[in-house]
Amino acid sequence: MLPQGLRQFYQRVTSSGPRPQSALAAKFDSVAVMEKARVAQKALFDDLNYPNKKQYLAFPSYTCMSSFAEQRGLKRILEIGSGLSTAVWARFAQQNDASICSIDGNLTRTRMFIRGTPHEAMVSKHVELIEGVSIHSDEFIDFYTGESQTSYGGVQVAALRDQINVFQSQNCSIKRRHKVSRVAGHRGWSARDLMTDESSLSLPRRLLDLFSSNGNFDNEIAFLRDAESRGVAGVIADLSKKESSWDLIFFDSGELASMIEWTKLKGNIAVGGFAAFHDIYFPKSMKNIIPCAAIMADPDWEVVFCDDSTKQGILIAERLR
Ligand SMILES: C[S@@+](CC[C@H](N)C(=O)[O-])C[C@H]1O[C@@H](n2cnc3c(N)ncnc32)[C@H](O)[C@@H]1O
Repeated sequence: MLPQGLRQFYQRVTSSGPRPQSALAAKFDSVAVMEKARVAQKALFDDLNYPNKKQYLAFPSYTCMSSFAEQRGLKRILEIGSGLSTAVWARFAQQNDASICSIDGNLTRTRMFIRGTPHEAMVSKHVELIEGVSIHSDEFIDFYTGESQTSYGGVQVAALRDQINVFQSQNCSIKRRHKVSRVAGHRGWSARDLMTDESSLSLPRRLLDLFSSNGNFDNEIAFLRDAESRGVAGVIADLSKKESSWDLIFFDSGELASMIEWTKLKGNIAVGGFAAFHDIYFPKSMKNIIPCAAIMADPDWEVVFCDDSTKQGILIAERLR
């Protein structure tokens, strides 16, 4: 039997009652939208080979995103980070005569998710799958270890830093929150203070390690170098030369790669087109917190949808000019 104080603490941190929506998600009637997305998952994608319950619960973000693309009549889609979502895009392409390109450093998982299901043939027919990594190792090293940056993706860090905490969420494991507290050195940390100082990005090495494979930033560099040695790195630069713009880019790549991909690709989204981000909440992830904060502070972009009913969350923004 736990002592009473400890029991109360445990109940507080594990309480599974309904969470209040974030102020941003509440602006978009996301409860109703996500309900439809869950119905679409059940009706059309229940036969995928989901690896676990977590992935099943995260999935409605993808059907929500494809219905959004359908409503807006989008035709040219780029996805970075293939997987279950690729099956959703394949069906979308079939139904809407759209073109989809999906990039991933390793397509083994994607192939496993669709193997032996009707989605296998649909992906093969409607999606251009590219096995390769988005960026080069020197861009990655420069971004994370080079001179501190006062501007990110054309937005002053001093302007975006006040938006960072919008994407801080308690909806993740206690273990993860505890690890971030260890990096911060105290429990009262904020994402903004962990990742920026007054006017520049400042991402501590221990934070980068925490979000790197096997807890070591060097592994992320090794992953990119390995792709370089096989001639399959820098895919987005090659693609951007061929394709001048996309109607929607879905950013769901590596934990540390996505932050760079946004800066390289935002100009390749057509005016009136959209960027969609998965894994927008920190400290569950640090993948898209900075791009989403930058969008909030960028007059050329407007958030048109945000949901926080899944742990990963989703945000869609429109390019205005
Ligand atoms: C979160 S998963 C994508 C999830 C996927 N959208 C789904 O529905 O299952 C992230 C993927 O990004 C890939 N990845 C990581 N870093 C990458 C990079 N620099 N370039 C391309 N793919 C990368 C990983 O191999 C992994 O499959």
